[in-house]
Amino acid sequence: MTEKFLWGSATAAYQCEGAWDADGKGPSIWDEFCHSEKNTTGITGDVSCDFFHHYQEDIRMMAEGGQNTYRFSISWSRIVPKADRVINEQGFEFYDNVLTECEKYGIVPNVTLVHYDLPDYVGAQGGWCWEGIADEFAYYAAAVFRHFGDRIPLYVTINEPTHNASCCYMVGNYPPNEKVNMQHFCHCAYNMVMCNAKAIREFRKLHLKSQIGLVHASCSAEALKATPEYLEAVENGDLFTNDWVLDPAIKGEIPQKLIDKVKASGIDLSFMKAEDRAVIAENTIDFLGQNAYSRLLVKPYHSGETCATVNNAGNNDGSGKAAKEGKTVKGWFESDTDPDVPLNPWGREIYPQCIYNTLIKRKQKYGDIPIYITENGHGAYDVADEQGYVADDGRIEFLSNFLEQILKAKAEGVNVKGYYVWSTMDLYSWINGYKKRYGLVRVDYDDPDLKRTPKKSYFWYKQFIEDHQDL
Ligand code: FCB
Repeated sequence: MTEKFLWGSATAAYQCEGAWDADGKGPSIWDEFCHSEKNTTGITGDVSCDFFHHYQEDIRMMAEGGQNTYRFSISWSRIVPKADRVINEQGFEFYDNVLTECEKYGIVPNVTLVHYDLPDYVGAQGGWCWEGIADEFAYYAAAVFRHFGDRIPLYVTINEPTHNASCCYMVGNYPPNEKVNMQHFCHCAYNMVMCNAKAIREFRKLHLKSQIGLVHASCSAEALKATPEYLEAVENGDLFTNDWVLDPAIKGEIPQKLIDKVKASGIDLSFMKAEDRAVIAENTIDFLGQNAYSRLLVKPYHSGETCATVNNAGNNDGSGKAAKEGKTVKGWFESDTDPDVPLNPWGREIYPQCIYNTLIKRKQKYGDIPIYITENGHGAYDVADEQGYVADDGRIEFLSNFLEQILKAKAEGVNVKGYYVWSTMDLYSWINGYKKRYGLVRVDYDDPDLKRTPKKSYFWYKQFIEDHQDL
């Protein structure tokens, strides 16, 4: 594989493909959720920016923007639509075409096997809490590895286990929409660890030249004070959001401290099987994907029941107020607020230094494991002029401030090998629909052809890449 630093952008299947039932695709849990009454906005990803029919144009624009890598995900339910496990060859055909297009421009594909969108038949059996999910995922993963082999140099098993588990079983805003179900949260988390390990076991059997990794959401925990209580909250925050994913995936073991603490919180851990230990130990990742959005700021647990909030209400039309997202985990930690740090309209801190701190902490704990910044992006209400052009200076500022911190960590010896802006073009934003935009390229959803127009950030990024060819 190329040793050049990778500069690119990222998307995910449900968010951009559209064509939700085309060419033999089965429904995913997101199709089911968005088509159900639980989806109070009625907004869906049925069409979105229709990457399914626009991929040639989108990939050409990446190349013209100087990007040499593209992170995307495969829709599991395009490949395995139903519980009978019959492979849908037409699903493979679509991704073969996407890869051909990437190859035409020398764009390195970085491909995620599941980015939230479990097939609905998996959801119907319990989704992430189904005892059969790790074997089912390994079956699908093996089919993908056999089909694409080394054509995909970078595979990712799961996108953002922590964020996904939290949204499904804590916040309850992603299907199956369970609010603060700690038992299911822990079961889901464990099954994700097993899905990752069992998919990697299939990957190793094929002796490919490609590498395999996992994409992680959270930055490391931080606190405003350094008292023993605050330091303990930081440790608990890391156990809860970082270590349960990263320790098994990188070191091959679930931290005993975490197991003890979870047990002490009254969780029944009988889903952990003795024979799983060896599977976790033997199947670790080659690289880490680290996403970069905001800081995890914690303080000691004080009082109250476990709860988690996100700030979606009123935000789809721009009328929302920025109230910080937060979590209280009883006996573990609480989210903290820092009045000096600005929030975006969705209540997320804009604190670029969090990625520097995280990368340094990763190196201290996990050594030289290669790290790709697999997502970094700024959600905003973009305003276009009459030509559809967006002068997104806020996004440019956000990205350049984060990049400064990332490159600083790299200069100090963290093994950062690539960087991806979220997102390549405007696309569906989970729950928030289409008003919250992240793209380097604008999509005009009112235009029947879904016209693409590069934003100011697209040209800025092109120049930034050109100026950093010596990395
Ligand atoms: C991440 C998700 C991605 C996108 C960004 C904004 O948590 O991985 O799909 O929605 O947030």
